Amino acid sequence: MYPKVLVVLAAVCLAVTLLAVTFASHTSKAVLAASTATPAYTESGDMLPPGDYRGWIFLSSGIDMNYFPKAAGMEDHSTFDNVFVNPEAYRSFLNTGTWPDKTVMVIEGREAASKGSINKSGHFQSGGVMGMEVHVKDEARFPGKWAFFSFDPPSGNGTLIPQGAPCYSCHVAHAAVDTTFVQFYPTLLPVATAKGTLSKAFLDEEAARSAAGK
Ligand code: HEC
Repeated sequence: MYPKVLVVLAAVCLAVTLLAVTFASHTSKAVLAASTATPAYTESGDMLPPGDYRGWIFLSSGIDMNYFPKAAGMEDHSTFDNVFVNPEAYRSFLNTGTWPDKTVMVIEGREAASKGSINKSGHFQSGGVMGMEVHVKDEARFPGKWAFFSFDPPSGNGTLIPQGAPCYSCHVAHAAVDTTFVQFYPTLLPVATAKGTLSKAFLDEEAARSAAGK
């Protein structure tokens, strides 16, 4: 009888092990599926498109935002931009007021349409994505910790924008937190203010702006 108990025990153990293995492989699949937000690159250094970014955290929409004085004869159709960030980085920001390594932020442009369905005035976003750019924090990979990639067409791989391009200097000089424009992301600005993570450049600029009464 004793050996029989052992056999049964062994069988139970095997069954439990099998169950555990099956469960583990299921969970690791789920983790893989959820972690597509992790930045990935081709051998030549292009960035793979962040596939499901439309399911990430929506930070803000701008319409016709322009950081330069408007030049005469400039094209006159309106454009929306939408900014998204991967959920892991967003949750970390809520705790710390700044971005963790492997943060991926996406900005996409969509044409502002006005004629359609029951709309009488104002603008709504048209279906097609006109352009897409990514700001990614990958500390071991990029000398300045962050890099920009341009996705043109939006469905293809992203091309690295070289350090020294105006993208970097404007973001460093004017962005509120860690070279990102948190001053325009309404759910994040109060967090960064409370945690004291606003950049000196931004605070100085704000002080000058309020002194000038703007
Ligand atoms: C003169 C300043 C300026 C320049 C130059 C600039 N940006 Fe930005 N960028 C902004 C502002 C302002 C926002 C906030 C947009 C919003 O609120 O919708 C922004 C937001 C972004 C975001 C969203 C994530 C973040 O960092 O806040 C990305 C991605 C981005 N820009 C990419 C680029 C790329 C790529 C270039 C160069 C081709 C570039 N930017 C050049 C001012 C600039």
